[in-house]
Amino acid sequence: MDKVLIFIQFSCLVLLFPFQSSSLPLCSDLRAPRIQKGHLTFCPYNGKMCCSSSQDQQLQKRFQAMNISDSNCASAVKSILCATCDQFSAKLFTIDTELRPVPILCNSTSNSFCSNVWKSCQNALISNSPFAPALQSKAIVPRNATLSKLTDLWQSESEFCNAFGGVNDENTLCFNGEQISLNKTNTIPPPKGICLEKIDNGSYLNMVPHPDGSNRVFLSNQAGKIWLAKIPDQDSGEVLNLDELNPFVDLTEQVHLDSTFGMMGMAFHPDFEKNGRFFASFNCDKEKSPGCLGRCACNSDVDCDPSELGSLDSEEHCKYHTVVVEYSANGTGSSPSMAEKARTEEVRRIFTMGLPFTADHGGQILFGPEDGYMYIMMGDGGSKGDPYNFAQNKKSLLGKIMRIDVDNIPSEEEIVKLGLWGNYSIPPNNPSSEDKQMEPEIWAYGLRNPWRCSFDSERPSYFLCADIGQDQYEEVNIIYKGGNYGWRVYEGPLPFKPQITPGGNTSLNSIDPIFPVAGYSHASINKLGSAAIAGGYFYRAQTDPCTFGSYLYADLYAGYMWSASETPENSGNFTTSNTPFSCAMDSPIKCDMVPNSNIPALQLVFSFGEDNKKDIYILAQNGVYRVVRPSRCNYACSKEVASVNPHMPALSQGCLVNSYPGLVLLVSAVLLSLKFFL
Ligand SMILES: *[C@@H]1O[C@H](CO)[C@@H](O)[C@H](O)[C@H]1NC(C)=O
Ligand SMILES: *[C@@H]1O[C@H](CO)[C@@H](O)[C@H](O)[C@H]1NC(C)=O
Ligand SMILES: *[C@@H]1O[C@H](CO)[C@@H](O)[C@H](O)[C@H]1NC(C)=O
Ligand SMILES: *[C@@H]1O[C@H](CO)[C@@H](O)[C@H](O)[C@H]1NC(C)=O
Ligand SMILES: *[C@@H]1O[C@H](CO)[C@@H](O)[C@H](O)[C@H]1NC(C)=O
Ligand SMILES: *[C@@H]1O[C@H](CO)[C@@H](O)[C@H](O)[C@H]1NC(C)=O
Ligand SMILES: *[C@@H]1O[C@H](CO)[C@@H](O)[C@H](O)[C@H]1NC(C)=O
Ligand SMILES: *[C@@H]1O[C@H](CO)[C@@H](O)[C@H](O)[C@H]1NC(C)=O
Ligand SMILES: *[C@@H]1O[C@H](CO)[C@@H](O)[C@H](O)[C@H]1NC(C)=O
Repeated sequence: MDKVLIFIQFSCLVLLFPFQSSSLPLCSDLRAPRIQKGHLTFCPYNGKMCCSSSQDQQLQKRFQAMNISDSNCASAVKSILCATCDQFSAKLFTIDTELRPVPILCNSTSNSFCSNVWKSCQNALISNSPFAPALQSKAIVPRNATLSKLTDLWQSESEFCNAFGGVNDENTLCFNGEQISLNKTNTIPPPKGICLEKIDNGSYLNMVPHPDGSNRVFLSNQAGKIWLAKIPDQDSGEVLNLDELNPFVDLTEQVHLDSTFGMMGMAFHPDFEKNGRFFASFNCDKEKSPGCLGRCACNSDVDCDPSELGSLDSEEHCKYHTVVVEYSANGTGSSPSMAEKARTEEVRRIFTMGLPFTADHGGQILFGPEDGYMYIMMGDGGSKGDPYNFAQNKKSLLGKIMRIDVDNIPSEEEIVKLGLWGNYSIPPNNPSSEDKQMEPEIWAYGLRNPWRCSFDSERPSYFLCADIGQDQYEEVNIIYKGGNYGWRVYEGPLPFKPQITPGGNTSLNSIDPIFPVAGYSHASINKLGSAAIAGGYFYRAQTDPCTFGSYLYADLYAGYMWSASETPENSGNFTTSNTPFSCAMDSPIKCDMVPNSNIPALQLVFSFGEDNKKDIYILAQNGVYRVVRPSRCNYACSKEVASVNPHMPALSQGCLVNSYPGLVLLVSAVLLSLKFFL
């Protein structure tokens, strides 16, 4: 009973403050904070930061132009300007997608920076004051150099601090005059073990939760079928409710299937419930499907001559394509959410690109939870060592993560004029808006074969992608705007020496790569050559509180699973641990075991899935496995609730329970009675 109460209070806190100052180190231009060589001359920042020395000089110029007449005020304003260098500047300066000129100034009663700013600046003259009222919410630079004091602009301290003051909340951090410091005591311990149950025998590549928030998911296989399935409640002892003979849609006729080809991804539009739009990403063969004909990724723009590829690969080049196709669930149910079938006719071709070789073409598609844009993961196109150096080439879409807008589709003339690869437009702040060398679709580059990316469901700025290595290292990256992840100058953190280089080389010191935050070397698992990572998710379900907050990933060849825990929380710094896993004794489908061990035999681990309750699944070659309460495998976890069963709706509204002791008793009674069944 005590245990139950404690859990309820715990979950209550989690529900009330799930985002408390939780944010990734991220710059206000969405780029990664970097360690600067040497120190800045103007702003007092060191370590990881968001300013280069030229940005530091610009800040200094802006500051000097303000010509502030009081030195205390000048130092306060300087600290505010320099806060753009803070590694958390995105949280300090961003409101929705706009930037504010001044961060929220901390105004807690005990130590109010806002009050200090008022006191030191109220009578100081500032040219082009950043505190002008019209500037509060939008970054407009006033056209005229106007001298003003705070008292010209605001009636009183309280009026000023009502406008500029505030405290940390889920969307913003407040600025207290100093570099944001991490709470070093907040660390997430790794789980002792992951307990799995097997709920289906099928072999799937993708799982996507139904956009209506229900307990349904879509599952797709490599051949090109998508099924709609009902997820059984935790602890129900039931299996996945999926009718193999009745897929939601069967696209196998359009999909080219072979060991490295097939349907690699699917995504449902964020407004699927209203517009019925969904998308599949697959490979096609131009000799078999008439619509399978696009520009070859090996072309003169990227210094690649398709007729020269022959010596590197026996396949006919650009015979196979990667396509993203839009379909519709309209008209088969009373609303798209009710639809249990969709038509196989293509509504629109979103993307078509011919592949130079036969491997490493990623293919996952995802909608960004905050921006609503479609992300397409694309590998380097294959052949050993990326001979044409596509991944480092900003003109090539191979070895990239792309970001496109599928809601605003330009006219055909416009598409041709812009040189796009299909029916989509370019989000206005893609990296190409600042770097003209970059193809407009590119969000990040220098990847080999991104195999499974996910956004943390509690902190959408954490966009993690695993990238499959070649000979030595499997990696997990945090993906930032415009980031270069190193391949094939580096493989993970290790310099890479290519053997065949018709596309030339990129030198080690000409790039500034972002190194992986987690990963493993092939040597460390004795799998020289034959390892391949499958990226997973930050675990955010209530089922296993001891795994909450850890990022899970595995090796394709199974036998290994890892968890990466951030140390300290919100630092972007991870500690990884090899995490044991086993199969629940009461698993609805008995697990096959690796002989003479207590390790379940999953065969190949293709990918992970997450449902609407944030429960996590492993999609393996021989079935679907769900992460369940650790005690079902005898893993110790003191925070575990006895049972997260559907018969206790009160638990999901944990905060209510606190005020109704009677209900707690009832809940405990249900828990006790359940123990008999389990
Ligand atoms: C700065 O302000 C001082 C008086 O406070 C004035 O003498 C000086 O000309 C100003 N400089 C500029 C560049 O506006
Ligand atoms: C800016 O300066 C111009 C000419 O110097 C003047 O006409 C205009 O009124 C000024 N605008 C503001 C907002 O002060
Ligand atoms: C702090 O800022 C908030 C948000 O603007 C405001 O509502 C509150 O009154 C301020 N508190 C103080 C003590 O100034
Ligand atoms: C850091 O986190 C710990 C644990 O949540 C908390 O007790 C402590 O007050 C926090 N410290 C600061 C400075 O926020
Ligand atoms: C899964 O496969 C096992 C062993 O082949 C079989 O006993 C079981 O009935 C199957 N379960 C389902 C739900 O298909
Ligand atoms: C599907 O229905 C929505 C809502 O009625 C409509 O906006 C959309 O154009 C339809 N799409 C297709 C492909 O029919
Ligand atoms: C746009 O979509 C239509 C319909 O699927 C297709 O015929 C056309 O080829 C696509 N355009 C491009 C550039 O892919
Ligand atoms: C690229 O680098 C590799 C390894 O250092 C070297 O063997 C090769 O000759 C270089 N290729 C070119 C075109 O410079
Ligand atoms: C990152 O985590 C490691 C432990 O894995 C720790 O030793 C190190 O101090 C952390 N680095 C930072 C910058 O917090």
